[in-house]
Amino acid sequence: MTAIRFRLNDADFAEDVAPRLSLADLLRERHNLTATHLGCEHGVCGACTVLVDGMPARACLMLAAACDDRQIHSLEGLRDDPVIAALRDSFHRRHAVQCGFCTPGMLISARDLIQRGRAGSEAEIRAGLAGNLCRCTGYTNIVSAIAEAAQTVAAQGKAA
Ligand code: FES
Ligand code: FES
Repeated sequence: MTAIRFRLNDADFAEDVAPRLSLADLLRERHNLTATHLGCEHGVCGACTVLVDGMPARACLMLAAACDDRQIHSLEGLRDDPVIAALRDSFHRRHAVQCGFCTPGMLISARDLIQRGRAGSEAEIRAGLAGNLCRCTGYTNIVSAIAEAAQTVAAQGKAA
């Protein structure tokens, strides 16, 4: 077992973890944070995307033991985040969710694109989402929802 200390969704934890425990299993099995979905478990589908030190990361590929001293956010911890709020609203109104399996990872990746100013065009959004697979929607509504959320966030920034 490895002793780690980490900050998860703005709370501090100290735990012993097995060497092969993934971050995804740590979140889902120990912390009941089931918005972190597991699709491929091979780093391909993006359903397990979370933030590690503010950057999107595949929770299925990252070992929990590597999270010592890291700051982790799952989608549950971003409930009050203004960019996630704009995305939640636009995904809802533009019907960008069908089964919802890809949605948590999509939201976290989309938030990152918007924050980095990489959601300015359809081509840019599609390129930025290359690591997040959706087998239901055909992507069109997801892309338009992200474009709308990017405009909302920009307008909020100008108004602030
Ligand atoms: S479950 Fe992690 S990338 Fe697919
Ligand atoms: S909504 Fe079903 S996988 Fe994307």
